[in-house]
Order: sequence, then structure tokens, then C-alpha cells
Amino acid sequence: MKTFFIKVFGCQMNEYDSLKVKAILESLGLKEVKNVNEADLILVDTCTVREKPENKALSFLGQCKKLKKERGAILGIFGCVPQRLRRKIFEEMPYVDIVIGTFNYHLLPLYLEKVKEGKRVFEVWNKYSLEENKLAFYPSPPKGPISYITIQIGCNRFCTYCIVPFVRGRERSKPFSLIIKEIDKTLEKYPYIKEIQLLGQNIDFYKCPETGYELKDVLKKVSEHVFNKGIKRIRFVTSHPAGFSKDLVDTLKDLKDIVMPYIHLPPQSGSNKILKLMRRGYTKEEYLEKINYLKEILPNVAISGDFIVGFPEETKKDFEETLELVKKVKYDQGFVFAYNPRPFTYAATFLKDNVPKDEKIKRLQTLNSFLMRSALEKNKTFLEKNTEVLITKKEKKGEKYLYEGRNPQNKIVIFESEKNLDFDTVNVKIKEAYPYYLKGVLNV
Ligand code: SAM
Ligand code: SF4
Ligand code: F3S
Repeated sequence: MKTFFIKVFGCQMNEYDSLKVKAILESLGLKEVKNVNEADLILVDTCTVREKPENKALSFLGQCKKLKKERGAILGIFGCVPQRLRRKIFEEMPYVDIVIGTFNYHLLPLYLEKVKEGKRVFEVWNKYSLEENKLAFYPSPPKGPISYITIQIGCNRFCTYCIVPFVRGRERSKPFSLIIKEIDKTLEKYPYIKEIQLLGQNIDFYKCPETGYELKDVLKKVSEHVFNKGIKRIRFVTSHPAGFSKDLVDTLKDLKDIVMPYIHLPPQSGSNKILKLMRRGYTKEEYLEKINYLKEILPNVAISGDFIVGFPEETKKDFEETLELVKKVKYDQGFVFAYNPRPFTYAATFLKDNVPKDEKIKRLQTLNSFLMRSALEKNKTFLEKNTEVLITKKEKKGEKYLYEGRNPQNKIVIFESEKNLDFDTVNVKIKEAYPYYLKGVLNV
């Protein structure tokens, strides 16, 4: 076994996990290939938050069956889908060699040994172990100039629609000392990193088990720690409206030179009746109060959110309240999902999925067009202005290079230049604005 290929589905948690798996495999001497047809080991990292990503992952795995036949490739699946389906994949997909859940992928080297001995591996655990903290010592490769560091895993909130607490386990915060060790090890191995993104399912509820530090303390201390180490930007996701505090916003103001003005604060709905049925733990008024304070203290902040349409009992009036919320907040970006009942959840068990499918799709399209208009309006405010862009991708195009990057507000910015630039920050003057990106020229 010499080469591997990882296909990732799902959220940034999975991106991070897959980068860790990549680091583990590279430490065993394996080399990543970009073409699945060339891989000796094919791993699929999976998401079960809705049916669609789950089916996509399983069908990708099904397509890889022929590579096993043709070239003897080893097939493995890990993450949230096996954690939900447990023995089902192992039993119904006999061509899959490795089935691992979310709590134990750090033991991959051991499992690969078993596969080499000709055994199939089924290892889905019921709960996490502190052993997972050892992952901090495998510096995961950055994506371009950005390093992801998960500081909190799992969730205790049990929103009535959500399967995450069932497949990721109880909320746990990584000790602050380990966060610092992980950052140091990562910067030592990849000294060109320019941005650190701290990840957590509900990152505002972070609490260090050793020091009691909260997210605001982590942001302050990490900022101090990376000072003079080449890091220009820090970001954090995902915020939860119930945990997002004024104290945190005040800290963001103090750290505005390094912590970027972009907050992902998913409201899910603008109707108090639906928020209660979802068990979100806040009202529309409380959400708006937090948004208003955030905008007052950080006027240049960009805000994004997730929305669910067609939740049980959502009437047209409830949906209109969500549209009103979108008008008030003026989101920079939004992600809309049609409600999809998930196993184990309260909503799937006790509430009737009573919004018809075509009505859900209609609401999804309406909300998406509202959000698109809002994003375009916000993006137009950048026209003819300079913005700092961290280059994340580059591609040679004839005599020129095509660059893509992110500005402080996390907007995608595209520009061309004859110069061969590094993955670093540059100044770009914005000339065109679209709902999903900005286009500009290099400002020298
Ligand atoms: N922890 C984050 C929060 O509470 O806002 C969200 C994490 S969840 C992994 C990502 C998004 O998936 C949610 O914000 C929600 O909009 C969507 N989602 C989760 N369960 C869903 C379901 N059953 N049907 C449709 N969308 C769902
Ligand atoms: Fe799911 Fe709610 Fe936890 Fe977010 S806070 S992961 S939506 S249960
Ligand atoms: Fe999906 Fe698991 Fe993330 S269910 S959204 S990959 S935590």
C-alpha cells in the first residue's frame, strides 16, 4: 500500500478530521494522490446531517467497488454515517474493508495493520475517549495558507431536528495547553501558514477543562501566542446565538487587527413558535439584539447564517417572519436547507413532517433569492474600494495567473495578475460585485 485518496463530505469538522487522517497516513509513508483511480487506499469521510450528503457518500463508495476489483484497492469509510448506521455498512457492503466511527479514527494505523493481515475492520465506538486528544500531536496539513484547528467537538444542545449530538457525542473542549501545542507543531512543520481557523460545533460554549478559559480568552491568548510568527488572521466558526455574548463582541473589537470581522450565526428561523419547537434556546428578539450589538461595535462585520425551511408546523406566516428577519439582518451569505427528518431526533419521532415537499422547495427558493439579493447589496458596498485579500488558490492561465482569495469579511475575491504571487495577503481594488464573489484588480 503506497498511495491514498480521501473524499470528504460534510462540515468543516470533517475537513479537519480528513486533514488529520492525511497527516496520519503521511506519517506511515503513504502518498496522497489526486486521482482516485491511482489510489491503493480509498477513504470516504461522511456526513449524515441530512439524507442527501449521506447518500452521496455511500454512492461514491459504491462506485469505488470496481477499483477494488480491478486494482485491489482497499476501501474504507469513517465519520458520521458509520456512526449512525453501525454494522449495516459492514454487513451490506462486503467490499468495504474498514468501517470506523467518529470517535476512533486516531487508531487508523492499528486498523491498517489488521487489513494487511487480510482482516476486515469494524470499529464504531459508543463514546469518545480522551485518547482522541493525541491527534493534537499530528500537525495537519493546511489548505493553502489556512490551518484548521478544532478546539471543541460534539454537542449537548439537542436541537429537535439535529442528529449531530447522536453521532459526535457530548460536547468537549480541547484543553488550551493542547491547542497551543497543536498550533506550535503545525507552524513548525508548515511555517508559511497565514491564517488559523478555530473550529467547534458551538464554539461560543468552549470552556477549557484545565483553566476555565472561554472562547474570548482563547482568542486573546492565541493572538498573543502567534504574534510575530507570520499569522495574519484568526477566524472561528460556528457561533450559536444562545452562547454568543456581548463580552465576546467586545473582545473582537479589541482584537480587530487579527480576528477577522466575519461571524456565522445561524438563526434557523425567524418565528418564535418554530424556534421553540426547534428547541434553539433564544427568541427572534434576542437574536436581533445580539446582531444589533455586533453591528454597532463592529460596523464592518459580515454576517452569515443557516436556515431550515419547512420545519413541522411552519405556516406561511412563520416563513414570512424568517423573510423579515433576513431583511432586518442584511446577511452577507446564507445557507438554506429543507427540513429533513433524521433518525433518533425528537422532531422525527414526535413531530409530523407536515409541510409538503413542493412547498418546502418553494420556500427554499424564495429564501435563497432573498439572501442572494441581500448578499449582492452587501457586496456592492465594496465597489471601487481596496480590500486585503489572502490568496488561497492560484492557477496559470496563459501568460497570467488567476488568483482566488478571501478578504477580511470572508468574501471570495478573484483577480488576475502577471505576477507570480505567494499565498499571502495583497491589496485588491474591487471592480465587479456578484452575489457569491467579488472581482478586482491588484493594487500596487
Ligand atoms: N451547530 C450549528 C448551529 O447550531 O447553528 C449548526 C451545525 S449543523 C451541522 C449545520 C446546519 O445543518 C444547521 O445549521 C442546520 O441549518 C442544518 N440542519 C441540521 N439538521 C437538519 C435537518 N434535520 N434538516 C435540515 N437541515 C438541517
Ligand atoms: Fe445540531 Fe443544534 Fe448542536 Fe447545532 S446546536 S450541532 S444544530 S444540535
Ligand atoms: Fe455532518 Fe457530522 Fe458535520 S453529520 S455536518 S459531518 S458533524
